Amino acid sequence: MTRRAVVTGVGHYLPERVVPNSEFESTLDTTDEWIRSRSGIERRHFAAEGETTSDLATKAARAALEDAGCDLDAVDAIVVATSTADLTFPSAATMVQARLGMTSGFAFDVQAVCAGFVYALSNANALILSGQADRVLVIGAETFSRIMDWTDRSTCVLFGDGAGALLLEAQEGEGRNTDRGILAVDLNSDGRYKDLLYVDGGVSTQTTGHLRMQGNQVFRHAVEKLAKTANTSLERAGLTSDDVDWIVPHQANIRIIQGTAKKMGLGMDKVVVTVQDHGNTSAASIPLALSVGKQKGQIKSGDLIVTEAIGGGLAWGSVVVRW
Ligand code: UT7
Repeated sequence: MTRRAVVTGVGHYLPERVVPNSEFESTLDTTDEWIRSRSGIERRHFAAEGETTSDLATKAARAALEDAGCDLDAVDAIVVATSTADLTFPSAATMVQARLGMTSGFAFDVQAVCAGFVYALSNANALILSGQADRVLVIGAETFSRIMDWTDRSTCVLFGDGAGALLLEAQEGEGRNTDRGILAVDLNSDGRYKDLLYVDGGVSTQTTGHLRMQGNQVFRHAVEKLAKTANTSLERAGLTSDDVDWIVPHQANIRIIQGTAKKMGLGMDKVVVTVQDHGNTSAASIPLALSVGKQKGQIKSGDLIVTEAIGGGLAWGSVVVRW
């Protein structure tokens, strides 16, 4: 028998305010047509004034716990992937822990920008496989609207706010790739590419800063690195792209999503796409897509799923999970 980290619940939360592309036309030299055709984005959600990342994360966590039918007392740990925590410290994860009313276990944040959820899943999987935890809430939550430069049309039209969460539970598998649960992971980073995507502020510089991106350069890295990491983790699981039921990619740009699927030899009928409705929600995009994909009846128990993401760092990676 082999210990496995199995997904037993999923949920999400999106702020109420929906902003269509057309809203940017009055303040920026841009059009709905440009945003749609270059990115695939049609609308995004923005958090209300005073609504914070931990607010979104807590609501997503509650939805995942309800979906799993799991009691809060049974949760050992909370991992939040975010680059937009409410405060410099404590972590968003401990704030979620308090809001949920959980007074035992442990909680911490993971910061790997848009690849954050893949990194958080990998960490939670390691906690479960090592026996340090039996049940881990893994949350991706962001309020990227707070770090936008509203005068920069090349970035501010692309991002949105939201949160998604999974509950991972230790179960016994047979040690085969037909088991449910996380079957393989692949993580990478290369700090030499910092200037392609970063926020030009932070605690140590005494400013909050704004997101800066050389979009076309990130694009070039994305398709190549995402297909490669997805194939690497499939290989580690003893599987190929023929075995994949769903790619659930980071939702940054429909053209990156299409290019990656094509490089993997898979059609778009095998891809869960939410970028049109959410924009790029950084670490929240994969759990949001998993939750929406399940709600729509696309993702079913036993399906083989590959998630992949890339973002600031550059940091990128993938996880193969049997749902
Ligand atoms: O999640 C983290 C990872 N991030 C990503 O994966 C994002 C990766 N990059 C992208 O998604 C795309 O590169 C973008 C959507 C950001 C841009 O698409 P692109 O096809 O790479 O366009 P570009 O940056 O090469 O810009 C083309 C033109 C430029 O004008 P010139 O220099 O050709 O005259 C831009 O100034 O489009 C212009 N442009 C805009 N025009 C209208 C840039 N933003 C806009 C805009 N509206 N909002």
